[in-house]
Amino acid sequence: MRDLLDGPDYKVRLLKMDSVTAAKEFYNHMRFDMIFIDGAHEYESIKADILAWRPLLSKGGLFCGHDFGNNADAIAVQSIWGVTEAVTELIPNYRRAEGSIWYATEF
Ligand SMILES: C[S@@+](CC[C@H](N)C(=O)[O-])C[C@H]1O[C@@H](n2cnc3c(N)ncnc32)[C@H](O)[C@@H]1O
Repeated sequence: MRDLLDGPDYKVRLLKMDSVTAAKEFYNHMRFDMIFIDGAHEYESIKADILAWRPLLSKGGLFCGHDFGNNADAIAVQSIWGVTEAVTELIPNYRRAEGSIWYATEF
């Protein structure tokens, strides 16, 4: 990451703060072509992340995240089950990609 963090043409900006707080800081002046949600996996946490970050997506942007799962393994891991529950509830037209990735481009 160091190369991406350093210099005037930086590609990565590190924000040492809660994800929902970060979303609030961006709300008035930034929109993103892609947002990848991969923070805490408990239902209430990912619900908060989805609700905070979805408004920051550019029109036609890619909203996606990790650790969606509805197979036996995922059900056994409660933290992953929260992702499935929240995404299904809040993003009815979500789609699945490779592995445990979920994504949506229209809402
Ligand atoms: C599943 S890990 C994924 C980390 C990274 N995306 C990766 O693939 O290496 C989730 C990370 O999000 C952090 N996290 C959990 N809840 C958070 C929150 N509300 N705000 C910011 N970070 C959070 C955790 O400490 C952990 O480092």
